[in-house]
Amino acid sequence: MTADLNRRHLLAAALAAGAAPSLVACANLGSPEPCFTLGVASGTPRPDSIVLWTRLSPEAHPARVVEVRWELATDESFRHVVRSGVDHAEADWGHSVHVQVGGLEPARWYWYRFTALGQVSPVGRTRTAPAAGSLDPVAFAIASCQRWDHGHYAAWRHLADESPDLVLFLGDYIYEYAPVPGGVRLHQGLTDTRTLAQYRARYAQYKGDPDLQRAHASAPWIVTWDDHEVQNDYAADQGPFFAPAFLERRARAYQAWWEHMPLPPSTRPTGPGLQVFDRCDWGALARFHVLDNRQYRDPQACPPPGRGGGNTVDVARCPDLARPERTYLGATQERWLGEGLARGGVRWNFIAQQTLVAPFTWRPDGNRVWTDGWSGYPGARARLLGQLARPGVENPVVLGGDTHTHYVCDLHQRGDPTAPVIATEFCGTSISSRGRSQAQLDAALPWNPHVHYGRRDERGYVAFRLAPGRLDARLRALSDGADPAATVRTAATFHVESGRAGAQRG
Ligand SMILES: [Fe+2]
Repeated sequence: MTADLNRRHLLAAALAAGAAPSLVACANLGSPEPCFTLGVASGTPRPDSIVLWTRLSPEAHPARVVEVRWELATDESFRHVVRSGVDHAEADWGHSVHVQVGGLEPARWYWYRFTALGQVSPVGRTRTAPAAGSLDPVAFAIASCQRWDHGHYAAWRHLADESPDLVLFLGDYIYEYAPVPGGVRLHQGLTDTRTLAQYRARYAQYKGDPDLQRAHASAPWIVTWDDHEVQNDYAADQGPFFAPAFLERRARAYQAWWEHMPLPPSTRPTGPGLQVFDRCDWGALARFHVLDNRQYRDPQACPPPGRGGGNTVDVARCPDLARPERTYLGATQERWLGEGLARGGVRWNFIAQQTLVAPFTWRPDGNRVWTDGWSGYPGARARLLGQLARPGVENPVVLGGDTHTHYVCDLHQRGDPTAPVIATEFCGTSISSRGRSQAQLDAALPWNPHVHYGRRDERGYVAFRLAPGRLDARLRALSDGADPAATVRTAATFHVESGRAGAQRG
């Protein structure tokens, strides 16, 4: 879809939805002024603060620095504005705006909007985290993998309609690939994304989608990344084809990711690295430990000949896999996670990360594994499971994405299926990225008895409701990932009882 068609699509969607005049004005074709065609977002919820985000339209060619006014209100019509201020959108940072608004009340819904050069943004809704000690239930959702040319974003529309308190995005916000003829939609550009301008343009294309904008405007997000925000299967400072200047490309990609995410201004990158791992407490009910599986990992073991990246290998033929010192999170992040888990004071601990933690074998003898996920780093996985099994770590639940598959798994001590279950895992399917063969997965499921559910032929997300005594999960699946008007259904439901690790049907 061209940029023009995209804008027209947005305009039509806004008109159809009876949107506020401001949104229509911002979608005004040929406007010489900056406007808000990329929508608004919020994130990093704390009991007393929230981060507000927008980026001025890249087609607007604004000045190097543009004043952007922001307002936060306790009502949708902005009769009660409780905070407001002026921020500066700078060309050096893609004219993005990141405002951390403090002094707020806990567990409260707020509405926000931006104004620049006479134009007003769409209105977003957001929410602060509850006060320390709160055990009020929370509704949240996990989502990942929104490859543009594989499908439409009906999943985002349905997710927004559920009005969750919180959305966790677990990676693959963009895909770096060049346009591929014959897809459901077409990536803009001529090559894969490598320059800062190309990464920015890719985010702008994805963020032009009205359903994605709606999901951002409906709730605060907590975000992490996976590989495609930079390049497929990269590992720390190594690209999959050993490109000599990979670290510079990675730095440009990290900058573009930061520019487009609702992250605090304090996290703005100052070098080639960017700290993504973070913790978010939801009262005394839950702690979300948000991990980065990409930036600090060792390279994948036994890659395909002549290159790097993931591979499907026989464990016996890849002795490198077993080296216990190989790391997935890096020593600093591993230590940080251990400290956060040991801190206690919450009923549930969620490990929000990118890939499948449960061991998964593609052969009956249990010895054929995919090396890019945790199964490619068994020593690091054993350390993670050891951390989750420690006394005092209440109700550990792993959340993941990447596999384009709905998986529900029990996690056993040491990854040994004969040992006790110590945690539960929910890996959500993709928003739009296509999955691989369901028949192949069905054939492998019997060899993975700790996996209660596996569906890779459906697109969607997982919606949760958490109360002190119980976590309920609904696996949401679209009627058709290629249909912008797709309906959604609950494909399966599972729950976890407090004090009893492992997923139960219903
Ligand atoms: Fe993906």
